[in-house]
Amino acid sequence: MFRSLDAFCTRLSETALSQAIQTTEWVIPAIQTVHIVAVAVVITSILMVDLRLIGFGRQSIASVAHRYLPPVWLALPVLLVTGVTLIIAEPSRALQNWVFFLKMALLLLAAGITLLCKIPLRRDAGYWDAPGSRRRLARLVGLLSLPLWVAILFAGRWIAYVQSH
Ligand code: HEM
Repeated sequence: MFRSLDAFCTRLSETALSQAIQTTEWVIPAIQTVHIVAVAVVITSILMVDLRLIGFGRQSIASVAHRYLPPVWLALPVLLVTGVTLIIAEPSRALQNWVFFLKMALLLLAAGITLLCKIPLRRDAGYWDAPGSRRRLARLVGLLSLPLWVAILFAGRWIAYVQSH
């Protein structure tokens, strides 16, 4: 399995697309720039929603989610496309690096939590604002989600410092 992943990375790095990205100096910095701008959109938007879930601010949770979650769903496909392009450029750097898979697992978890938070608001806009156990759960979700997204940021940077095999 590991040997075939090795072969896959080598084959991918030899494709015309990978070669074109690798040999055109400005392409990787340009893709990284777009990736980082999309990261900024996701993190600032999530920060607004999570701080509101934790208890800061006065607007209803539904209105904060309604304003700040659409940019997250727009930026995630941009991150996917730019991330995949970076992988095509240098496949083994991510695909043979456990930190990359940690980042993807954390991302699935964090995006899943964000999505789950949004679902009850479709039926009842006041769902998370009701005092009592729901409000406490909302606070817990915010306290869990925020460090998860920060861990994704950290893992994104960490990939570069962990040797791929
Ligand atoms: C949607 C799927 C995503 C994929 C496939 C992906 C893939 C990648 C890849 C391949 C790199 C380059 C790592 C390296 O070679 O050093 C990278 C960098 C990075 N990613 Fe992602 N990523 C995704 C989403 C995200 C998200 C959601 C965040 C944070 C909210 C994020 C944050 C970062 C950061 C901070 C870097 C380092 C940028 C730099 O220093 O140039 N990524 N990502």
